[in-house]
Amino acid sequence: MTDSLLQFEADDALGRTFRVDTSSVWAAAIDHERLTRVGVGSLIAFQGSSSSEFLVGVLDRVTRDLQDEALVEEVTVDGDVPVETRQHDLLRVVLLGTYRTVDGTKRDTFKRGADSYPLVESLCWVILGANLQQLMGLLSKQLDPEKRLQLGTFVADPSAIAVADGDRLFQRHAALLGSTGSGKSWAVALMLERAKALAHPNLIVFDMHGEYTPLTAGPEPIARSFRIAGPGDAGAENDNALYLPWWLLNQAEMQALLLDRSEDNAPNQAARLTHHVRELKHERLLADGQNAVADRFTVDSPVPYPLQDLLDRLNDDDCAMVPGKTVPKQGPFFGKLTRFINRMRGRTEDRRYGFMFDPPNDAQDYEWLHGLAKRLLGTSPGIKVIDFSEVPSDILPIVVGVLARVLYEIHFWTEEEKRTPVTLVCDEAHLYLPSGVPDAAELRALESFERIAKEGRKYGVSLVVVSQRPSDVSRTVLSQCNNFIVLRLTNDQDQAVVKRLMPDSMDGLTAALPLLDVGEALILGDAIILPTRIRLDVPRIKPTSATKNFWTEWNEQEVKEEDLVAAVEAMRMQSRS
Ligand SMILES: Nc1ncnc2c1ncn2[C@@H]1O[C@H](COP(=O)(O)OP(=O)(O)O)[C@@H](O)[C@H]1O
Ligand SMILES: [Mg+2]
Repeated sequence: MTDSLLQFEADDALGRTFRVDTSSVWAAAIDHERLTRVGVGSLIAFQGSSSSEFLVGVLDRVTRDLQDEALVEEVTVDGDVPVETRQHDLLRVVLLGTYRTVDGTKRDTFKRGADSYPLVESLCWVILGANLQQLMGLLSKQLDPEKRLQLGTFVADPSAIAVADGDRLFQRHAALLGSTGSGKSWAVALMLERAKALAHPNLIVFDMHGEYTPLTAGPEPIARSFRIAGPGDAGAENDNALYLPWWLLNQAEMQALLLDRSEDNAPNQAARLTHHVRELKHERLLADGQNAVADRFTVDSPVPYPLQDLLDRLNDDDCAMVPGKTVPKQGPFFGKLTRFINRMRGRTEDRRYGFMFDPPNDAQDYEWLHGLAKRLLGTSPGIKVIDFSEVPSDILPIVVGVLARVLYEIHFWTEEEKRTPVTLVCDEAHLYLPSGVPDAAELRALESFERIAKEGRKYGVSLVVVSQRPSDVSRTVLSQCNNFIVLRLTNDQDQAVVKRLMPDSMDGLTAALPLLDVGEALILGDAIILPTRIRLDVPRIKPTSATKNFWTEWNEQEVKEEDLVAAVEAMRMQSRS
């Protein structure tokens, strides 16, 4: 076929097909030397059922063995059959798509899936050079220019650009997985940078180590920076400090935070908490003249109420005497709430919880939540980075969980046609979305995120789950992800998790995971038509690296004593600023 985009010469063939099963094709290498230059993950073309068709797949396995073969045709005069050791190279290719020169009325089409199979004995070739560029050009042409998200270049041919379907990538949740130092944070920065070029991007990054701060600084920041208020901020007004006042918590979250389930009186404590919170919210709504809301709100509705009043009312229950036959006797809750009240006092006085129990006064205003919604879900600026680095790890799940739930619910209640989709980028997801048996606080966070993972798509909320330990991330959340950007992954357990998440046919591709170079990724899922090895572009503004160069820094950086003093003081104040 001269008018085909793909041009192969019989002399350049890599192998000859000898076995075909449902999703893969085995070929025997013709040219052993050529095979050594072809890596797992390379694209391979087979002649299809007609000359206008090529089946395209990815090399997922190469086996090599030496076999002694009897050279029956070369029997000696004595009747001896000489034996020669021969090298057998076999390659397995997973078929992914079909290229056709003509398809009905259309010319040059590429579609996912293989309708036919290569004939046994047919030749196959590595797709390289001009062929690769033609194919990639065709793939990106098939993608609506508006949807194109350029992520990098193909490892097999750096001049061919790899584009993903930006709609699909974010639509049904994505996971970005790779060992430490494999390039996840740079990949996040790259996606944010690409999104920044759109008119109204809407992404919120949950930044666990303050790595993305550089993206929020400089003359052309990509994102706006926020920070969960730390003990140093207590009660202060600060544009960047985020507070999550106690009244945002729903009952399940309140209980996870304050209740000791193992205590006999836990059911009484929970019941009184719910009772008083409902009453306090109701009183507040009436006092504010919010009668329509007062008629409909539930105990979980985010309505401000005074914390001190809640404590006082619980205390009244705990001490209340009721009239007896002759003398007053102890009320039904007498002494049953003491431990709960003490726990609650302990929490509310803990400065680490200042962002929740000691917010500035305006956090008591009915309108305060409107402000939070505007700051975090608005699109000017549309990319927001929230720094959680000063939040103590034991309370991280509850903080992240509450914030995600509140954002999701606000979006849920936005009128459908007025909703601009929003993506939550969950960095270091294993820290707050753990697999295994969760504690009460982790359970709440998991429920918030699992709800987003399961229903978010309908309401335009999606997740990008980022983790270095996929095996430690909730399986429910990961299994809802439809696209995977997988960087180098060295740990067996983590590789096994990724393998299980992939369709069977992709199994072999994941064999390449430990071999990937820094910044190289496999992109798997419906956002990319042909999954192959991609070298991700370098972002313009780089995140600060969480990885220290020990050897280099021992040569360069001297420790100053005043810095140590400052560190001790920061530790005392629980704040770096
Ligand atoms: N796309 C890339 N191209 C080249 N080098 C990269 C790329 N991504 C990351 N790196 C290198 O790897 C280092 C670690 O990347 P980083 O994104 O911080 O890893 P992770 O977040 O997975 O721990 C970076 O400091 C950089 O030197
Ligand atoms: Mg990182």
